[in-house]
Formats: sequence, C-alpha cells, structure tokens
Amino acid sequence: MAVVLGIESTAHTASVGIVNEEARVLGMASDMYRPAAGGIHPREAANHHVELFPDLVARALAAAEVAPRDIAAVAFSQGPGLGPCLRAGATVARTLAQVWELPLVPVNHCVAHVEIARILSGLDDPVLLYASGGNTQVIVHGAGRYRVLGETLDIGIGNFLDKLWIALGGTFPGGPALEAEALRGTELLPLPYSVHGMDVAFSGMLTAALALHRQGSPLADVAYSVECTAYSMLVEITERALAHRSRKDVVLGGGVACNERLRGMVRAMVESRGGRVFAPPRSLCVDNGAMIGWTGLLALRAGGAVPIEASGILPRQRTDLVPTPWRADRP
Ligand code: ATP
Ligand code: FE2
Repeated sequence: MAVVLGIESTAHTASVGIVNEEARVLGMASDMYRPAAGGIHPREAANHHVELFPDLVARALAAAEVAPRDIAAVAFSQGPGLGPCLRAGATVARTLAQVWELPLVPVNHCVAHVEIARILSGLDDPVLLYASGGNTQVIVHGAGRYRVLGETLDIGIGNFLDKLWIALGGTFPGGPALEAEALRGTELLPLPYSVHGMDVAFSGMLTAALALHRQGSPLADVAYSVECTAYSMLVEITERALAHRSRKDVVLGGGVACNERLRGMVRAMVESRGGRVFAPPRSLCVDNGAMIGWTGLLALRAGGAVPIEASGILPRQRTDLVPTPWRADRP
C-alpha cells in the first residue's frame, strides 16, 4: 500500500505526517511556533521550522514504523502562506525527495484542509466551510476545481480572533483562549454583523469589540458576543450555499473548526435542513503534515509529481486556481 510523507510549513506550524491510501495517519510530528508577544514574525517562524524539521522527520518515521524505502512520494505545502516559512518546508521536501530518490508532489494548503476533512467525513459532495487563520471560505467542487462561493473580504476569521485576543492582552493563538472565555459570557452585546451576499468581513467587529471592552463590558461577554456574531455570519453564508447549490451536507475544516460553538451552530443549521455535518478531530483541523501527505497521495495518483525546477513556492496561490484531476465532478 502506497505511503506518502507530507510536509507542512505555511505559517506557525512545522509538521511531518505519514499517511496511507486509506487516509490513515501512520505517524505525525508537529511543533507550533509561539511568539512571546504579538503576531507571527515570518522569519522567526521560518527559523523555528528549519531547526525542528530534522527531528520532526525522524519522529514521524519512527511513529509510523516505516523506512524511507517504504515511502512512495514526498509532498509539501506549496502555498498559500508566508514566503520564508513555505521556503523552509519546500527545501526539506526537495532534499528528502532527492536523497531518497522519490517523486516530489506540491500541494495547495487550503485544498489539503478540505481533502482531509472530506475523506474522513465519508460524505461525497458536501459544501465545505474552511475557517482557519488566514482563510475563511465556503467551497463547492465543480468543473475540475474547488470553487469559492463566498469568503472573507478582509482578514481570515482565525487571524481576527488572534488579533482581538492579542489586543486584549493575550498571546497567540487567540481562538482557543477566546473560546474558553466565551463559555463564561452571558450577555449578547451588539456588534457589526457584516455579510455581503456570500462574503463576510471582520475588521469592523474587531474595532467594535475592542471599544466595548474599553468602555467596561466584561471580557467574557465580549468573547461570547464575538463568537456568536462571527459564527452566525459563517452559518448564514454556508446555508445560502446549501440552498443555491442543492446540497444537504457540510464538512468543516481549518483551525477554527476546532471551536465547539461553531461546530454546534453549523450542526443545528444543517440538521434542521435534513443534512449531515462533519468536522475532523482537532489534530487534523489545525495545520498538519498528514493532510499534505493525503492530498499529495491523491495528486500523485493523478500525475501530480513535478521536477525540482517546477517546485517553487506560491505564497498567494488561491484554492480555486488548483486543478483537482483526482476528483470526478458530480454528474
Ligand atoms: P490557513 O489555513 O488559512 O493558512 P493557518 O494555517 O494559520 O491558516 P490553521 O492552523 O488552520 O490556520 O488554524 C489556526 C487558527 O485556528 C488560529 O487562528 C487559531 O486561533 C484558530 N483556532 C484554533 N483552535 C480554535 C478554537 N478552539 N476556536 C477558535 N479558533 C481556533
Ligand atoms: Fe491552515
């Protein structure tokens, strides 16, 4: 059975995952760069990745109990992401592919979030809500690609939560901390609800939430209101995609899909329409090498290996620019 090693390094997380053809994670080793204060510094994050990758590769191989000769290909995140971080992972992937004499397979990071969630869900053709640090997209597959029906017009929802939490005096990542704080909130405070057709925006809510806190609203109520308002916006555009594309099922992906309130709100909407909903386990929602390995395996089968000269990073590569030759269209 073919086994692929995937390398993830688009932003804060360096990760190596080894998966087989059943999308089983045979071994994975990850480490997240956590800035002491403020947001991610790209070069510092890249240095973190460079330092850790040798150990992560060794640990993933040991956990998977496979030797390099058992591996069919090396896959890596080609984009989108922070240039220095992407370059660190791509360099490791090229080196391993050369030394082990294996095919090298570039993978789009967003498509990987979507593909790992889709295979684990067992749902064939769902609407995908991809909510992560840098991205917020409602996605449906069609005509050989993932099509973005709606997305954020400014910052990704995870970056919004992180920025808010850091401005309130916390540290990165903000999403999980804000979730814990929101559990203690009781009062729903008014915040800008910014849905434009199929798109959403968060920067107005960031300003308004900080103003509420400055004016004396309890932190727990601010956190609770931000979660309720922001996640309602995502539920609205996801429901509109279901209605207009005649779909019933929803799959969640990306780091913010770890959030229990978001999971619950999406579930309530989908089940009220008679559909099914799925979110991967947390370790496969956040950035991880296994999703890159799995998508690399799909791409490898469809002829997606490239020579080293064609393996340059693509920091701005969009989800809807990537052909998906491994996936048939719905008849
Ligand atoms: P992208 O996939 O767009 O490149 P990324 O790679 O930075 O973004 P992920 O690792 O997929 O993002 O997700 C990280 C984000 O998920 C962070 O912004 C973090 O705050 C958020 N996050 C993680 N857990 C939770 C949670 N329980 N609730 C809300 N947000 C969360
Ligand atoms: Fe991600």
